[in-house]
Parts: sequence; C-alpha cells; structure tokens
Amino acid sequence: MTAIRHFQPQDWASLWPLLRSTFATGDTYAYAPDAPEAAIHAAWVEQPLATYVACADDGTLLGSYTLKPNQPGLGGHVCNCGYVVAPAARGRGLASAMCEHSQAEARRLGFRAMQFNLVVSTNEGAVRLWQKLGFRIVGTLPGAFQHQRHGDVDAYVMFKPLKG
Ligand SMILES: CC(C)(COP(=O)(O)OP(=O)(O)OC[C@H]1O[C@@H](n2cnc3c(N)ncnc32)[C@H](O)[C@@H]1OP(=O)(O)O)[C@@H](O)C(=O)NCCC(=O)NCCS
Repeated sequence: MTAIRHFQPQDWASLWPLLRSTFATGDTYAYAPDAPEAAIHAAWVEQPLATYVACADDGTLLGSYTLKPNQPGLGGHVCNCGYVVAPAARGRGLASAMCEHSQAEARRLGFRAMQFNLVVSTNEGAVRLWQKLGFRIVGTLPGAFQHQRHGDVDAYVMFKPLKG
C-alpha cells in the first residue's frame, strides 16, 4: 500500500536525494543537473501551492509531486504539476496514482485544467503515461530541452481539461 499525503519538513531528508539524483541525469527536468539544494527546495517545496509525497507502509518515501498555478491571474485556473518516482519503485503505477491524486486535488482547489510545460520528447515512458491518463500533446517546442546525452531535443506541452 502507498499513501499519498502533504509534504512535511521532515520529508526533505529523503526527498532531496531523490530529486538530486533525478535531476542530475539531465534527461527529464530543466533544473540544472548540479542545482544546489536550496534552489531545488525553493522550486519543489516553497514556490508550489502544494507538495505531496507518496510513502510505503513503513514510511519510506517513494515519490513526490508538486502542484501550482501555471500562470498568474487570468491564467491561474490552469495548474501545473511535476512528478518523480524513486527508481526502485517505478513501473508499479505510482506515477499514475499520484497523477490521479493531483487531478483530484487540483479540482478541489478550483483549477479547471492541468498543463505540463516541458515534457521531454525522449522521455517516452512519461509521454505515454500522460497520454494514457488523458493528456494531449498540444504543441511541440523544437529543440527546447538541452538533453545531457542527446543534445537539444524537442519538448511537448501537454494539456488536460479537468471536469467538474
Ligand atoms: C516518469 C515516471 C514519473 C513514471 O513513474 P512510474 O511510477 O514508473 O509510472 P507508472 O508505474 O505509474 O506507469 C508506468 C507506465 O508509464 C509508462 N512508463 C513510465 N516510465 C516508463 C519507462 N521508463 N519506460 C517505459 N515505459 C514507461 C509505461 O507506459 C507504463 O504503462 P503500463 O502501466 O501500461 O505499463 C518515473 O519514471 C520518473 O520519476 N522518471 C524521472 C522523472 C520524470 O521523468 N518525471 C516526469 C517528467 S514529465
């Protein structure tokens, strides 16, 4: 069983190594691969409207996601989320569960749509996963991501309206 709950400050000791190793490979997120801890704490915990963690029964942190408005003011009804799952916990539906959870939370908070701004085209598993969950590729940003192994690659904007 996995429980998804709000982030608490004591989660950071487990969350930071997961985020650091995820971003260090430079193939899924735009954060600098060597971004300092304070910058990632600001981006993942301080700036979002809410941050969540997914934990195993024994409390082990397995994943996390953030939720925030994608734009201020008149674009503020569309939210944006980012997800990470620990390598050892991948392929078991955790990202799917967190994405479903995030859509429910977003609706509860009054958002009417969800947008992913920079889904790296070579992150094929993630692209397929979001499509399976109802997100559509609404645009391709040519060469918009500096992939650390493949060079500049396309990135997708993905969008899903959130119904009632
Ligand atoms: C992308 C990520 C969040 C998926 O997490 P996950 O818990 O393994 O995903 P799930 O188990 O819910 O879903 C797996 C499904 O997604 C697809 N998938 C996800 N990652 C995949 C991969 N590396 N290779 C192939 N397929 C993959 C599969 O289609 C699979 O579908 P299935 O259930 O029909 O087999 C995880 O691999 C991760 O944290 N990656 C690094 C960070 C990242 O890329 N975040 C997303 C940025 S847009």
